[in-house]
Amino acid sequence: MKIAFIIGTRPEIIKMSPLIDEVDKRGIDNIVIHTGQHYDYEMSQQFFLDLELREPDYNIGVGSGSHGKQTAVMMEGIEKVLVKEKPDIVLVQGDTNAVLAGALVAAKLHIPVGHVEAGLRSHDKTMPEEINRMVADVCTNLFFVPTEETALNLLFEGVNRENIFITGNTVVDACYRNLKIAEKNSQIMSQLEVEGDILSLTLHRAENVDDRQRLENIIEALLNIQDLTIVFPAHPRTVKTLKKFGMYSLLEEAPHIKMIKPIGYLDFLILESNSKLLMTDSGGIQEEAITMNVPCLTLRYNTERPETVEAGGNILVGANTEKILENVSKLLADQDLYQNMKKATNPYGDGTASKQIVDAILNAHAQGKLGIKPPEQVASTQAKELLQITEKITVEEFEEKNPNYVINMVFDEDKPVFPYSNLHLDGKTLMVTHFS
Ligand code: UD1
Ligand code: UDP
Repeated sequence: MKIAFIIGTRPEIIKMSPLIDEVDKRGIDNIVIHTGQHYDYEMSQQFFLDLELREPDYNIGVGSGSHGKQTAVMMEGIEKVLVKEKPDIVLVQGDTNAVLAGALVAAKLHIPVGHVEAGLRSHDKTMPEEINRMVADVCTNLFFVPTEETALNLLFEGVNRENIFITGNTVVDACYRNLKIAEKNSQIMSQLEVEGDILSLTLHRAENVDDRQRLENIIEALLNIQDLTIVFPAHPRTVKTLKKFGMYSLLEEAPHIKMIKPIGYLDFLILESNSKLLMTDSGGIQEEAITMNVPCLTLRYNTERPETVEAGGNILVGANTEKILENVSKLLADQDLYQNMKKATNPYGDGTASKQIVDAILNAHAQGKLGIKPPEQVASTQAKELLQITEKITVEEFEEKNPNYVINMVFDEDKPVFPYSNLHLDGKTLMVTHFS
């Protein structure tokens, strides 16, 4: 059994790290392929040191570039490695170009793909990440999803429920594991020397920083925030565009804003946990905020992490100056609102996602379900049907009894529910595909 991990950017290194540790701990043969999409010390190497990860076995060295070129170079490099190494499964994480390239190459080589953090949807195809997530999920065989809501997205797209594993998000594993280490080792708070409350900010999403108007709106809000010191570890993409649009000095010269280089993971965990508020357009930070009970304002018009909003820990404010300022003021003035946001329940699991993912992979391998094989039975029709179940039967029993049916969705009254193996179907409606 051999696993190939594909990583390329800061969040992938962080969120794959507990999984790489788990696979190493169980003595499973594995290789790590870094695409090299992030290459600055602060965006890559720093995380290998913080997370005590071994150096990647391969680095494709793709660097920066247009989406087409970057994806093409990654695909060429990853293909060479996979042909040589012949892993039993390729694991990709999240929604970057590495995920798109890795999943596509592996699927064409008939190597099973496991997508960690599969099924997220913002329903916004202007985001490069939405395209990456959706294409990767077309190529994926084992879907490791963080929540039931995410699992339902996949069911609605026709994914077989047997291949979906609701595990929580490995971001929680990484956070729980590293927060204690960070508390011992990080010097960031004394280095920053901030008196009073902190708002920590990150900003890097293409739709915000490459759009002059949106960036201007956000900066106007930042310049007008009072009673908080803004700590802003700025992503290299953002530094580049701030300079291009002549906006960099506005932030650098504002007395209540501390612009710093991107910081290491351990320092960032400490900064987050010592913040009164987080403001971000990052995916991972929306998840970390609710994991660490810090209220989050998200500089986006939609999110593929709606659970954080539904749980009450995250508010979407877009790139809208008034909305940003209004929500910061409200949270500072209204203690009940602030405390309720802090208390929001974390939807991303209990920190055992990595263990569950490795268990699922080993199980699939042991049951001979990992390989991609050509079909052996002729199935010329695929009828979609609705079935009203009146029998006392569970999902597992239904599937045993009806091997030619695939359950697409279960409705309890008018509410879609995930078809867990032990779910009782009596009184429910099934949407099925009938192969014959
Ligand atoms: C990428 C991911 C995004 C993820 C983010 C995590 C895609 C399409 N985007 O966005 O989903 O949220 O990583 O941070 O995969 N740069 C440097 N040094 C580096 C890396 C980048 O200076 O080490 C600069 C370059 O000018 C580059 C720009 O940042 O052109 C953007 O980098 P890129 O990797 O294309 O996208 P990110 O914005 O980092
Ligand atoms: N992070 C970090 N240092 C920083 C900013 C972020 O270690 O200066 C970490 C943060 O803890 C989170 C991850 O980077 O785990 C988020 O990455 P990013 O926002 O770049 O990408 P996204 O999650 O949006 O894909």
